[in-house]
Amino acid sequence: MPHTDTQTGTMMPAPPCIMVIFGAAGDLAKRKLFPALYYLSIAKRLPENFAVLGVSREDFSSEAYRELMNKESRAHLDGDYSAEIWDQLVKCCHYLQGDFRDPEAYQRLAQKLGELDNECKTPGNYLFYMATPPAFFGDIAEQIVKVGLAKETDSHWRRLVIEKPFGHDLQSARALNKKLLEIFKERQLYRIDHYLGKETVQNFLSFRFANGVIEPIWNRSYIDHVQITVAEPMGVENRASYYEGAGALRDMIPNHLLAVLAMIAMEPPISFEADEIRDEQAKVLRAIQPFTPEDVLTHTVRGQYAAGVLADGTSVPAYRQEAGVAEDSKTETFVAMSLMIDSWRWAGVPFYLRTGKRMPGRFTEIVIQYKHAPNTAFKNSLMKGKQVEPNVMVLRIQPSEGISLGINAKVPGQTMQLSPVEMDFSYDDYFGNEPSTGYETLIYDCMKGDPTLFKRADIIETAWQLVEPILDVWNALPPRDFPNYAAGEWGPSAADELLQRDGRRWRVCTGGCTPKKT
Ligand code: BG6
Repeated sequence: MPHTDTQTGTMMPAPPCIMVIFGAAGDLAKRKLFPALYYLSIAKRLPENFAVLGVSREDFSSEAYRELMNKESRAHLDGDYSAEIWDQLVKCCHYLQGDFRDPEAYQRLAQKLGELDNECKTPGNYLFYMATPPAFFGDIAEQIVKVGLAKETDSHWRRLVIEKPFGHDLQSARALNKKLLEIFKERQLYRIDHYLGKETVQNFLSFRFANGVIEPIWNRSYIDHVQITVAEPMGVENRASYYEGAGALRDMIPNHLLAVLAMIAMEPPISFEADEIRDEQAKVLRAIQPFTPEDVLTHTVRGQYAAGVLADGTSVPAYRQEAGVAEDSKTETFVAMSLMIDSWRWAGVPFYLRTGKRMPGRFTEIVIQYKHAPNTAFKNSLMKGKQVEPNVMVLRIQPSEGISLGINAKVPGQTMQLSPVEMDFSYDDYFGNEPSTGYETLIYDCMKGDPTLFKRADIIETAWQLVEPILDVWNALPPRDFPNYAAGEWGPSAADELLQRDGRRWRVCTGGCTPKKT
């Protein structure tokens, strides 16, 4: 691998290139992309010959754009701050004002890139990052091609990073894929899902496939069910114009939650080559049982938050009172569902998914609930007919990355009494806590030309195919009980009933180990 030092195994800087950010003055660029570039720079992964060219409609000079980044992006950096590295990064930022639909802007873009190649000694490698509203994706791609900026040669590459949402439904996702594939090669397209850039999500692969004890019991014979929770305490913030038309289902399920599910449920790939992994992920998504309209009614739950009080005591308004949200909005801010995977490994094992805004905290975790152990040896002891607690494995992605396993131990003393205890592994304890946004690995991989952690067209379409019947039924039957959960709660009661009907319950997220008894 050209970007790994074969002697030491350490990663080398990415090849010289220019990163063009469309939507350069937007939230994503300020909050995620610039901090990610800064962390990459700290880790010495950015090439020495490197430039960022921001493009958007706002009228800035390059100088004013740098000031904006200093003012608005620096505030999003975590960890020890290095003024030297930040200043160096900001210095290589340039700006071009332009309307995304104006062909003339792309003539100026081509000219500016030529100038920057000379100035920054970059060899014509361009990474075009679409951090714009999705309505512009197709137009930008087309214009880039028209001015010849998508053409690769032996001496330079051209790549396009497409942010989510990739389409609004199955039809629009297919249309966008078709349009892009008519003008770009699949190998030039990097459909990003920042959840796949999260360290813990990537760790699922090593956890499952590099440990002899895990995989043999990772199946329907041992696992009772799986829960995937992505909970956020934030509300819609200043994104109502996007969120009102999207809602929690489109915003989170076909991308982040199904990406996590695919990592958990996929079969072992025969190698870690990009397409070997993506083939396995595609297979598992294709094996999910499609929802009939009846299933949508019984296996999905939607919710919208009312005013409430968050865990830290802050009172917050209802979704319908947020800026830019309609007074009678029918947009869901919470969704829960159960689904089944028709495969030899997972037949009969429900996967429960839930995600929502204004939840009691920021928790992203996967619960693997094992089956009950036979009670035989304990039936006459002090268990008094109670079942032994089943083992639970919790994979924590946020906020405190780690893995814990709940087991039963004997309470010290003269009688046979059991108590659940936890074995816990925390990333911090072993590897420290490097700040990250989830975008670092993905940007770096794109610069290196490694598409493993990016979505292929078929994966995107399979995910939309699954969600489509839910969208159809929900559209046909607008919710009548919104708002149906208070901010600071775990969604509507129907989400609890979804599991109760199956004799199960959501595990309470604790953000770490269950508190130990003192
Ligand atoms: C984004 C969604 O893709 O992911 C947001 O559009 C959501 O609504 C965010 O808040 C969650 O990402 P993270 O990394 O903060 O868990």
